Amino acid sequence: MTHKLDRRHFIGAATAGAALAVNSARAEDKAAPVNKSVVHVAAPMPFDPKSVKGFSERILVSHYENNYGGAVKRLNAIGEQLAALDFDKAPGFQINGLKREELIAANSMILHEVYFAGLGEANKPGAPLSEAIERDFGSFDRWRSEFAGMGKALGGGSGWVILAYDKHGKRLINSWAGDHTQSIAGGDPVLVLDMFEHAYQMDYGAKAGDYVKAVMAITNWSNADRLFEKYSKV
Ligand SMILES: [Fe+2]
Repeated sequence: MTHKLDRRHFIGAATAGAALAVNSARAEDKAAPVNKSVVHVAAPMPFDPKSVKGFSERILVSHYENNYGGAVKRLNAIGEQLAALDFDKAPGFQINGLKREELIAANSMILHEVYFAGLGEANKPGAPLSEAIERDFGSFDRWRSEFAGMGKALGGGSGWVILAYDKHGKRLINSWAGDHTQSIAGGDPVLVLDMFEHAYQMDYGAKAGDYVKAVMAITNWSNADRLFEKYSKV
């Protein structure tokens, strides 16, 4: 089992044709700028969906393919449209709509990757992250209580609970998000809890609290250790 996600980006490759078409359509307007978009590739599932305790293969595959995979596809499609958009002439509502949807899809992709990477065989955080949690929350149990409590509190609606490294304050925080666009500025997600119904409804119905308990019982910290080391050094 690996918890190191490696999503590759390809710049411009898939949009070269679209950019070319835009360029040729504007042969008379050579100054019109055309951007290059980044093509995102979905990371491989970081676990065997048949062996995640407390979750069916059906819900994990559906979540990964439809919600995470869907966000990656959507982000690429939005990127193509933005690359071809003439920002000097486009109406504000079109720019606002595409940039808002780009933010939603990008955060959905990023947060789902961190969420999936935190599921698997339960273990404990390594020493650096463990010490930072104790420093910033008082104790691991206090962090756990806050994180799980925030998840349960979102159970009547939807959103994300994010253990983030706040670069501004140089500390770990549990950040609340009611949707994909709400995240603390400068906060890098280290461990994430998905509180959208698609993450648990198939297996737990409306029992969001049982789902939170199941996630907390299989939290794997290996990816969180790696992310914390990376973010806290900056
Ligand atoms: Fe999700």
